Amino acid sequence: MITFAHATKRYGPTTALDDLTVTVRPGSVTGLLGPNGAGKSTALRLALGLDRATAGDVTVHGIPYRALRHPLRTVGAHVDARAFHPGRSARAHLTALARYNRIPARRVDDVLGLVGLSDVAGKRAGGFSLGMAQRLGLAGALLGDPEVVLLDEPVNGLDTDGVLWLRGLLRDLADQGRTVLLSSHLLSELEVTADHVVVLGRGRLLADLPIADLVGRDAPVVVRTPDAPAPLADALVEIGHHPQVDGHGLTVDGVDVTLVGDLAHALGLRVHHLAPAPVTLEARYLDLVADDVQYRARPEERIA
Ligand SMILES: Nc1ncnc2c1ncn2[C@@H]1O[C@H](COP(=O)(O)OP(=O)(O)OP(=O)(O)O)[C@@H](O)[C@H]1O
Ligand SMILES: [Mg+2]
Repeated sequence: MITFAHATKRYGPTTALDDLTVTVRPGSVTGLLGPNGAGKSTALRLALGLDRATAGDVTVHGIPYRALRHPLRTVGAHVDARAFHPGRSARAHLTALARYNRIPARRVDDVLGLVGLSDVAGKRAGGFSLGMAQRLGLAGALLGDPEVVLLDEPVNGLDTDGVLWLRGLLRDLADQGRTVLLSSHLLSELEVTADHVVVLGRGRLLADLPIADLVGRDAPVVVRTPDAPAPLADALVEIGHHPQVDGHGLTVDGVDVTLVGDLAHALGLRVHHLAPAPVTLEARYLDLVADDVQYRARPEERIA
C-alpha cells in the first residue's frame, strides 16, 4: 500500500504536486494518469524517496521509503528506461544490482526469464531497443521480489506483444496481492493494463476511480441493424431499459453489451455494429483534464 497524505512538492515557483491525498491499494493495478507535467513522475519520486515532499507525507506500508529496512525487497521501481551502464550486459547489470542489495544471485536468471530477456542476457545493454531497455528496467524492479511495484511510463516503447505481455505480468503481480502503480499520459495504455486509475492535472487529484468508470464500460450501447429495430427496442423496454431508436438502429443506456447482442440474436435481428459508444472514452478523460493541460499547443502552432 502506498499512501499520499497531503503530499505537496514545489520546485521554486512550480507546484509539481499539490496536496495529493490518495491511497494506492494492494491487489490491483493502479494507473497514474495525467497530461505531460501533471506531476506523475514527481509523485513516484516522492514515494521512492528520490525527492522530499515540501509538505505532507508519502509512505509505503505506513513507513517513509527512506526508513524501510529492505527498500529493494519492499519496493521495486522502474523510473528511467536507460538507468544502466550501457557497456554492461543485462545479466551483469542485474547481478551488480542484486549484490548491492543483498539479493540472492539466482534471482537474476529468474527475472531475466520473467521479462523475456534470457536469450540476450549476455548482450551489451547499451545496444538494446527502447522496448528491451524497458524490460530490463522491469527486471530490475522485480529483482527483490517486492510487495510494491512502481513503474514510470513502462508501456512507452513496447510493441503490441510487449503491451499484452506487460498486462499479463502486472495482472499476476496484483493477483499475488502486490501493490502495482504505473504511470502513463495515455488513457489507452491504462485501459488495457490498469484496474483503477488516479488522474492528476497540474499536480492536483482530479479523480480516483475504477477504470471501468472512466473508460465508460457503462457507456450507452449502440446497435446498428439493417432490420427494423422495434422488436429489440420492445424487448429492452420489457426488461426496464429506455432505448432510443433512430434510423439505423438504437442506443441504450445502462445495459451490458453482451445482453443486447444476445437479445438481438434471439430476435433474429441482423447486427452490423454493436459496441459501447466510443465517444465517452477519451471524452470523459479530456473533460477531466480540460483545464489542467499545461502544455497546450496554441492554435497557430497546431498542424492543420
Ligand atoms: N527537478 C525539477 N525541477 C524543477 N521543476 C520540476 C522538476 N521536476 C519536475 N518539475 C516540474 O514539475 C511539474 C511536474 O513534472 P512531472 O515530471 O512530475 O510531470 P509528469 O506528469 O511526470 O509529466 P510527463 O508526462 O511529461 O512525464 C512540471 O511542471 C515539471 O516541469
Ligand atoms: Mg513523467
